[in-house]
Amino acid sequence: MTSVERARRVFFLSRLVALSVAAFLVSTAHAAPPHLERQGSTQRLIVNDRPLLLLGGELGNSSASSAAYMAPHWPKLKQMNLNAVFAPVSWELLEPVEGKFVWSSLDQLLKDARAHDMKLVLLWFGAWKNSMSTYVPAWVKRDQVRFPRVQLPNGQSTEILSAFSTATRDADARAFAALLSRIKAVDAEQSTIVMVQVENEIGMLPVAREYGPEANRLFAEQVPAELLRRLDATRANGTGLHKLWAEQGGKSAGSWTEVFGEGDAAAETFTAWHYSRFVEALVTSGKAAYPLPMYVNAALNRMGKAPGEYPSGGPLPHLLEVWKAGAPSLDLLAPDIYFPNFVDLASLFRRADNALFIPEANNSDQPEVPANAFYAFGKLDAIGFGPFSIEAIGDLKPNPLADAYAVLRQLSPAILSAQGLGRMSGFKPRVLEDETVIATPITEDIGGYRFTVSFTDPWVPKASQRVATHGGLIVQTGPEEYLIAGQGITVTAKPVGAGPPLAGIDSAWEGTFDSQGRWVAGRALNGDQTHQGRHVRLAPGQFQIQRIRFYRYR
Ligand code: DGJ
Repeated sequence: MTSVERARRVFFLSRLVALSVAAFLVSTAHAAPPHLERQGSTQRLIVNDRPLLLLGGELGNSSASSAAYMAPHWPKLKQMNLNAVFAPVSWELLEPVEGKFVWSSLDQLLKDARAHDMKLVLLWFGAWKNSMSTYVPAWVKRDQVRFPRVQLPNGQSTEILSAFSTATRDADARAFAALLSRIKAVDAEQSTIVMVQVENEIGMLPVAREYGPEANRLFAEQVPAELLRRLDATRANGTGLHKLWAEQGGKSAGSWTEVFGEGDAAAETFTAWHYSRFVEALVTSGKAAYPLPMYVNAALNRMGKAPGEYPSGGPLPHLLEVWKAGAPSLDLLAPDIYFPNFVDLASLFRRADNALFIPEANNSDQPEVPANAFYAFGKLDAIGFGPFSIEAIGDLKPNPLADAYAVLRQLSPAILSAQGLGRMSGFKPRVLEDETVIATPITEDIGGYRFTVSFTDPWVPKASQRVATHGGLIVQTGPEEYLIAGQGITVTAKPVGAGPPLAGIDSAWEGTFDSQGRWVAGRALNGDQTHQGRHVRLAPGQFQIQRIRFYRYR
């Protein structure tokens, strides 16, 4: 071997070694844990280093406690086009004996979710589930000295753990951190679990605050300065609490009643602050073990009800600032929406500092749910959506939610790339709390065109239409090109800005995206299907996608 050949050989061998080391490092490197990442005016959920839209559903409270019960449901959830299941894990089952954790149910849940190619959002049923404390282990339930209960004004105790007990907080936080450590150990490579809900629908009942000695002592103290600073800094948000604070003189210091008045509202704000501090302790312990995105969910208050008549002090629209200040490590405050005024309520939780996630978007059999999903993703840049008791509709035929999710799944890449960037919007009729449907057409600019979306179909008898179930989204994919999807909407367009004032349809195709994201065109729509070029129509009754190119003329 000549010296030149020897040098070449050494060079190639050293390159081979370097490449093998690089390949080994790549194969052993984990993706970052799931996290939220800003895009434009919103945040997206990033899983396995890619953005993900959660087309989910929440299981009934007891379903995930039995793998046998769940077995027939998993394939049906898959057939309904879900990519994520929101499943409870409870303190009582994970830590039946103090300090001794049993992970078999969690491990089984992971195994089943993976076998069905499904992501999981875990719901930590810890100290509180729907205000009450029924999911805590028996060793907590039975020791009311170590784990004190809420006291009512007459001194009576309730089945609600006090938020003022450090023993309760620390025990809950220890169990929560153990859960996160376990997730890290068994799921860091795959990231099947993408988010964790902390407690469930926290809220004080049947009064606005606790009346135990510690609660009474703290209620007489000063309002924390960081809360008042937050109110000051966020005046523009104009929540109910900002208004109350201003009405009471907008003080920069004082006791709870001095700052927020003598009524229940001061007591509720105090409750919210202490719940948020308790949750913050869990979140920081959990994230120290494994930093998954975390959120709390709100049992929304019905208008006209007093604090305590509804679960008070949760992350409610009027208390968002309290929760943002008290639990800054939470990623999201999320509404559970069972009231008809979905559009109004969901909008309150879509803020620059709060991306929208709706863990309980009404019961899954409610007819407006599919259109609400289009609205949440299209208009409000939601990162996820999940109707409640999802397994209850697995056998439904036809299944409008399954059809809607099939379309949203195909559109996910387009939706994800447009979120937060003003290239997309969602449309559905606004429904008021008293169920009045406002079916007036809505006009919005997207890119270079002004769209008017009508919800009453022109060709179907009015009496047979349920316009509140109509809805869809429009996403811009090119200078003159849009995907329009949904059902029961009719869309007209006009150019915006200088130039020719009229818009015509250059081409309109119905079609689908295949599993590789490639467009598969169906019929070329024209003639009666576009009313001879006058509109784009997505008929009621079938969710679909149309790909439209417009042009301008005089
Ligand atoms: C809201 C709760 O968060 C769920 O766990 C469940 O109890 C539903 N209500 C029932 O409607």
